[in-house]
Amino acid sequence: CGIVGYIGKRDVAPLLLEGLQRLEYRGYDSAGIAIHASGKAGGLKTAKAKGRVRELESRLPKRFAGTTGIAHTRWATHGAPNDENAHPHTDAEGKVALVHNGIIDNAADLRARLTAEGVEFASETDTEVLAHLIGRAEAGTLEEKVREALRHIEGTYGIAVLHADFADRIVVARNGSPVVLGIGEKEMFVSSDVAALVSHTRQVVTLDDGEMATLKADDYRTYTTEGSRTTSSPETVEYAAESYDMGAHDTYMHKEISEQADAVDRALRGRIDDRFSTVHLGGLNLDAREARGVRRVKILGCGTSYHAGQIGAQMIEELARIPSDAEPASEFRYRNPVVDPDTLYVAVSQSGETYDVLAAVQELKRKGARVLGLVNVVGSAIARETDGGIYVHAGPEVCVVSTKCFTNMVVSFALLALHLGRIRDLSVADGKRIIEGLRRLPEQITEILENEAEIKKLAELYADAKSMMFIGRVRGYPVAREASLKLKEVSYIHAEAYPASELKHGPLALIEPAMPTVAIVPDDDLLEKNRAAMEEIKARSGRILAVAHAEQEKADHTIVVPKNEPELDPILMGIPLQLLAYHTALTLGRDIDKPRNLAKSVTVE
Ligand code: G6P
Repeated sequence: CGIVGYIGKRDVAPLLLEGLQRLEYRGYDSAGIAIHASGKAGGLKTAKAKGRVRELESRLPKRFAGTTGIAHTRWATHGAPNDENAHPHTDAEGKVALVHNGIIDNAADLRARLTAEGVEFASETDTEVLAHLIGRAEAGTLEEKVREALRHIEGTYGIAVLHADFADRIVVARNGSPVVLGIGEKEMFVSSDVAALVSHTRQVVTLDDGEMATLKADDYRTYTTEGSRTTSSPETVEYAAESYDMGAHDTYMHKEISEQADAVDRALRGRIDDRFSTVHLGGLNLDAREARGVRRVKILGCGTSYHAGQIGAQMIEELARIPSDAEPASEFRYRNPVVDPDTLYVAVSQSGETYDVLAAVQELKRKGARVLGLVNVVGSAIARETDGGIYVHAGPEVCVVSTKCFTNMVVSFALLALHLGRIRDLSVADGKRIIEGLRRLPEQITEILENEAEIKKLAELYADAKSMMFIGRVRGYPVAREASLKLKEVSYIHAEAYPASELKHGPLALIEPAMPTVAIVPDDDLLEKNRAAMEEIKARSGRILAVAHAEQEKADHTIVVPKNEPELDPILMGIPLQLLAYHTALTLGRDIDKPRNLAKSVTVE
């Protein structure tokens, strides 16, 4: 979900709508806006609509003028996406308007209590209880009312509150869900994401958990939920507003795929140490002695980031010879894992906010484990809560399905693997070989992307598939998994990924012309085995599209990618398949940047 708010002199509705549009990738099933109406009557005015922000825009009443307001775009958790459940939520008297990200765990109890006291609820959301609690609070100031209400709340929140009797301010609070203040000239902004702020100001203040803030047009102050003042000087956002725009592309996905050569270059910049054939990772906070003591590496992430972690685990095993594996963060958290002091934990996340990953990090920290972050968004919750880490420097990623960030995560894992390897048993010569391979990546990525027209044709050819099989072995298997996820997320074609060797143990039964196979076939020591798997598929009249280092006889079509070092080949082999997913979705007329039912950052369980 996304929050945006403004207080200043400008007409607030258009500003908030623009902000919502920039946040839409965080949830897009309903949206709403509340303002302090200008004019004599004053008071709060609210408008909400199921669907996209443009739906809300078309539903705004004619007279909807004001210079202070808050807005929200939602990804439903409690209650179906409809007008009533859309935020902002209001109290019984219509004096309080509230937008909320996060989940109130004890909402059912609070709702029962308030209902017993005679409160009538207008929605099924957990958020509405908070609006009533603020409305009913006895304290004098808005800050105290909010504080009093929050005392009853168990759960996570990022909130922004308007109150009809306090037209000169917006009060915000954070616990587990991001709140960022944007500091302007005689105007202030607030959002859950810098993406909505950068076109107005690059001066931001990120609230900590347990912090609140009051925004007035020409001033802001921050304090704890207990009321003691905190100091917070604005920081400058790293990327300029244009980085958040689509530029000349038709979709963010296409833009982000196209940016990968530059993104990888950024991940490498300033990190390579030719003298010792290794890399410098300044933020790691792990000295050589500690690194030598690591006996296992456990990588935790969700979705695409989990797949990046699977490739990362292989790289670490290969280059540093430390047993490593990746696991979905949510699974890990719920199986009461054995937390071992000699294991190095790595949390991978684009947003740095995904709740399942954050909760796993917190559980690990509580048990005394050492946790590193491999994160894209600087200063995000996971980046803050880990002991150190690597920023992947992919730049802002807006499309819900992750592309450039995935690639940069894998590159960052290669850096981590090289670093750990060179502290342990990886030779200077091998270190040098990997560094040279890393340096070749940006050019090779460009080469792959130049092949787009051909990949587009293939996508059009295979877009009639009812279902697709993706196969690979060892290094190729996580590439197949990620490619399969990409295709299903964005094109809605069902896809499955299997280790090529497992095909004959069951999934071969599915093979028929309507279920083509994408085979990842690197030119490594498993080439012959992969050819044999393709043979098995051909014998069952399956169609095959191979991604390989040379034309494959057994395949109906081959996408040839440039060869790097075997350990780094997975980085390149997935890239044409991002384009395949993209063009398949385009052919099928899908909503590429905002696939149905998904959201970019899932900050709830
Ligand atoms: C959501 C997104 C996925 C993403 C996953 C993890 O489900 O739709 O594209 O891979 O979250 O996100 P993170 O920000 O932690 O990498």
